[in-house]
Amino acid sequence: MSVLTVNLGENSYDILIGGGTLPSLGRHCLERGLSGRVAVISNPAVAELYAEQVRASLAESGNQVTLILIPEGEEHKNAATLNLVYDQLIQAGLDRNSYIVALGGGVVGDLAGFAAATFLRGIPFVQVPTTLLAQVDSSVGGKTAIDHPRGKNLIGAFYQPRLVLIDVETLTTLPQREFRAGLAEVIKYGVAMDLAFYELLERDSARILEMDADCLERIVLRCCELKARVVEQDEKESGLRAILNYGHTLGHAIETLAGYGTLVHGEAVAIGMVLAARISLAGGYCSEGDVSRIVALLGRFGLPCIPPRIDQGRLAETLLTDKKSRSGIIRFICNRGIGDCVVVNLTAEQLLTLSGLEV
Ligand SMILES: NC(=O)c1ccc[n+]([C@@H]2O[C@H](COP(=O)([O-])OP(=O)(O)OC[C@H]3O[C@@H](n4cnc5c(N)ncnc54)[C@H](O)[C@@H]3O)[C@@H](O)[C@H]2O)c1
Ligand SMILES: [Zn+2]
Repeated sequence: MSVLTVNLGENSYDILIGGGTLPSLGRHCLERGLSGRVAVISNPAVAELYAEQVRASLAESGNQVTLILIPEGEEHKNAATLNLVYDQLIQAGLDRNSYIVALGGGVVGDLAGFAAATFLRGIPFVQVPTTLLAQVDSSVGGKTAIDHPRGKNLIGAFYQPRLVLIDVETLTTLPQREFRAGLAEVIKYGVAMDLAFYELLERDSARILEMDADCLERIVLRCCELKARVVEQDEKESGLRAILNYGHTLGHAIETLAGYGTLVHGEAVAIGMVLAARISLAGGYCSEGDVSRIVALLGRFGLPCIPPRIDQGRLAETLLTDKKSRSGIIRFICNRGIGDCVVVNLTAEQLLTLSGLEV
């Protein structure tokens, strides 16, 4: 098992990563002073697979465990579901000495984290992420949120977990499409931040696709390290943390416009990265060879590289309404070669022209 500490002063915490770590959850919570009443928040699909192991481990360490299930899917990451969770936290008698465990993907982690941040003005919480996306991205960094009818993640808080426990063996039950979508985020770290890591992904692609546990532990660890180092320098996303959005500016817009269910997030990010690489090429930040290399690795992992047909006017409009654009200027992340990046200010029109998409 690997241990990584996220250094955030009094909000510091450990990320534990390994294969078969779930049964040790209770002990690791206890070691961090967490014991008493605990609510495990999950969804039916994940609970069916892993809730019993988690419950047993927590109970063995002397906890009184309540399982709270939220319905499956992003459409339930909202205030109505959150209210049902509060009801059950009160019903189960959780107090300020109690804590929450989020067991599931990013939807469960974001909502359970926000519940923990707000219930009784904040009680401790532990992330047990079970999707690749959640293990390499959403469980680390302390962003918690629910959606609003007007937009995703509009209501939330920065609230750090007390512990993140990752069991890479949980990935073996993940639907293939979700696993591959998570690999898009993994590739993102390589392209934007770490050439050696990118080379490792190229070299070990077969073992990754076979879900070799040692190999997965290594790549999840490296992604968490890279994200942790960024979060440590910019906990509240005032600057540097933007580099984690590599591939996401166009990716998000394409995800929104492609229509519900057409592309999963990671697939849209894959397309967003190809377009970002092309924009970087046009801006002189990377070579034709770098672009081909990115396309090749995405293809190797079964990710799409070609954008679906989208009305360019609507795409420009969506880019400008993105909460990260300011007065018509988009802070766009270009890759400098592979393994480094640079922030460039562009208009939506420049962005679309440089990416090779017709305006
Ligand atoms: N907080 C952050 O920093 C951050 C970063 C990125 C994304 N997010 C959020 O994360 C969410 C997406 O997360 P996601 O991609 O994990 O999706 P998800 O939570 O919807 O999980 C995807 C699917 O996999 C299933 N599942 C989860 N683990 C499983 C397992 N081990 N075996 C079998 N099935 C399993 C789930 O039931 C679900 O159907 C979005 O709401 C997004 O806004 C947050
Ligand atoms: Zn993402």
